[in-house]
This record gives sequence, structure tokens and C-alpha cells, in this order.
Amino acid sequence: MNNLLKTTDDNLRQIISRLNSLREEEQITLARRIHDNLSQTLTALQLEISIIGSGTSMTGAAAEHFSHVKELTVTLMDTTKELINGLRPPLLDDFGIVAGLEWLVSRYQTDSGFVCTVLAEPKEISLSFDYRTALYRIAEEALENAARHASARTVALSLIGSSKNIRLVISDDGVGFNPRLKTEAAAGKFGLLQMHERVYFLGGEISIDSSPDIGTSIVVQIPLVSEESE
Ligand SMILES: Nc1ncnc2c1ncn2[C@@H]1O[C@H](COP(=O)(O)OP(=O)(O)OP(=O)(O)O)[C@@H](O)[C@H]1O
Ligand SMILES: [Mg+2]
Repeated sequence: MNNLLKTTDDNLRQIISRLNSLREEEQITLARRIHDNLSQTLTALQLEISIIGSGTSMTGAAAEHFSHVKELTVTLMDTTKELINGLRPPLLDDFGIVAGLEWLVSRYQTDSGFVCTVLAEPKEISLSFDYRTALYRIAEEALENAARHASARTVALSLIGSSKNIRLVISDDGVGFNPRLKTEAAAGKFGLLQMHERVYFLGGEISIDSSPDIGTSIVVQIPLVSEESE
């Protein structure tokens, strides 16, 4: 019976991991499509607008409408970038995990109302796709939780890498909570459970410490096997 339960657990874990990979692939494809179609068309549109603007002198209502068209194009560009970054920021794959986390922190810094910092040691940490994806998604979920549940004033991220392992810590000074994974999952809350699954899949460890009015601290430690560090 115990063996049967273990096999079911293992199978479920495989399914969760496969679903995570599929979701990641979909997000990458969607981000690429948005970039290749929308972003490039918008860049061409902006060029056309600037050519019209430099060759014609407009006055009155025409000038006002033209300036509005320019503003709308800039807004569309910004929205498109936000959409792409929200799916999976290209920085994460082009420049690595530290750049990805710095971008994430800057986004929450602007939108969430708390002060958010990131410290990385060394400044450049090169990780393979699965590792940087897991760490990025864990940090994203922790920041989202801090924004939605913690009423925190500050959130600090740190990423410390060595040749043997990588350690990610996310601490907030918010209201805290009582981490009970099974109850949360039963209530349809999956963020923390997903964090555990991502860490488990890479053979790492995660601990979540939280106390009322002191805040929450999530510590993730993942061993790096030599072929995984690029
Ligand atoms: N940093 C935090 N500060 C305070 N409470 C938290 C924090 N992180 C999580 N929680 C509490 O733990 C619960 C479970 O978090 P979890 O991320 O699993 O689910 P969720 O955020 O409610 O939903 P989702 O499935 O969208 O992530 C939250 O509903 C919240 O009550
Ligand atoms: Mg959550």
C-alpha cells in the first residue's frame, strides 16, 4: 500500500513538472510571437510617424491629433513590452538570472508599494534553463505573495551562488502567516506548493519561516551538478 502511494506521489510530481515545462514553453512561444508580430509592426509604425512628422508642418487640430497618435503608439509599445516581460522577460535568457531578478524587483518596486532590493553574489551567475526558470518563478511567486498578502514595507531578495550550490532568500517584513501546505492546497492555493515542487525536482531544499508581525522568509538551496552549471 505504501509503495502504491509513493508511486502515485512520484507520478503526480512528474505530471506537475511536465505541466510546468509545457506552461513555460507556451509562455516563451507567446512572448516570441508578440515580439515578432506586434513589437516589430509597432516599431515600423513609429518610424512612419516620425517620417510624417519631420516632413510636414502641422498646425491646430491636425497637430493635436498627430501628437495624440504619437502618444498612443508609445503607450502601445510600453504595453507590448509589459506583456512580453510578464510572460517571461527576455533579459532572463539573454543576460541570466541576476538580470531577470533585477528586472522583477524593479517591476514590484514600481507597482507594489513596498521597497524591494536584490543582492547577488557573484554579480553574474550562469545557470542552465531549468535552474534559472525555477529560481525566477519562485522569486516571482514570493514577490506576488508579498504584494497580495503581506502588507510589507520592504522585501529583500538575495542570490548567492558557488560552484556547488545556489541559495535564494526572499524576506519580507509583513504580517506573516502559518505555512500549512496541505490545507492551503486543499483551499485551491497553489503558489507555495509549486515552490516546493520546483525545488524538489532539482534536488534542493526549501524552508519557509513566518511569524505574525515579523514577516516571512523563504530560503531555497539547490545543489548544482557540474553539467548543469554552464
Ligand atoms: N509573504 C506572505 N505574507 C503573508 N501571508 C502569506 C505570504 N505568502 C503566503 N501567504 C499566505 O499563504 C497562503 C498561501 O499562499 P499561496 O501562494 O500558496 O496561495 P495564494 O497566493 O493564496 O494563491 P495562488 O495559488 O494564486 O498563489 C496565502 O493565501 C496567504 O494567506
Ligand atoms: Mg501565491
